[in-house]
Amino acid sequence: MQIFKTPAALRAGISALRQSGKTIGFVPTMGALHQGHVELGLAAQKSCDVVVYSIFVNPLQFAPHEDFGRYPRTIEADTAKLEAAGMSAVYLPGVEDMYPSDFLTKVHVDGVSAPLEGEFRPQFFDGVATVVTKLLLQVLPDKAFFGEKDYQQLQVVARLSKDLNLPLEIIGVPTVRDEYGLALSSRNAYLSHEQLGIARQFNVILRNLAEAARKGGDLAALEADASKRLVAAGFDRVDYCTVRDAATLQAPQDEAARRVLAAAWLGQTRLIDNMAA
Ligand code: PAF
Repeated sequence: MQIFKTPAALRAGISALRQSGKTIGFVPTMGALHQGHVELGLAAQKSCDVVVYSIFVNPLQFAPHEDFGRYPRTIEADTAKLEAAGMSAVYLPGVEDMYPSDFLTKVHVDGVSAPLEGEFRPQFFDGVATVVTKLLLQVLPDKAFFGEKDYQQLQVVARLSKDLNLPLEIIGVPTVRDEYGLALSSRNAYLSHEQLGIARQFNVILRNLAEAARKGGDLAALEADASKRLVAAGFDRVDYCTVRDAATLQAPQDEAARRVLAAAWLGQTRLIDNMAA
């Protein structure tokens, strides 16, 4: 597996791949890789000749009070995992490579980035949109793969790619869950044994909400009930637990596809999950 540590090294490597006629699949990550990240690359391997990952803990998407400092950094284990899964290359830029001291540009996506995560983490999507745009322009893949676990992020990235006419496809890959249905996340590593047991109720309560929403009934009442159940299960706080239009993430229209989305806290750890409703 090739390892590129600078934008210049990446550019040379990518141009060599292109010249040999290879199609490129790209998986951007912040590392602390789990099976969910590996599945993104396996999906990419099905339709691309080579698969390039990036690992970069992006300071721009964390607010000062968030977990940038303690976000798990496990580069050696990560690269070993990618190598074992037959991935082609990994890009490991430094903060100075991505954001030199005179860096002034931000990418902002309106609309789909405003509700939900946008309300609770106002800096988050500008940080994601900026780094993803930079990474996509550096790697220039044929296809880029993002997990549905971060469903709103996937919509934001699809929108920026469309609006900026980026010459590539954005592909969403279904969430990978553990045997109890808990969505795999690098932040699950923060959970104590007891918290893990509570976290595993998250998907169960959301699935019940999705089923109840499908049967009809007052959505506001169903959402409030699901939030209460999360707290009763042991979550400390619920940021949101809601049924939305799957495309706009606004209140659902009659015939449109719907998505249940939720964010809730266990101690200092904030978990998100979503599923079709
Ligand atoms: O989903 C993530 O891991 C990050 O938000 C991403 C897309 C790699 C941007 O930093």
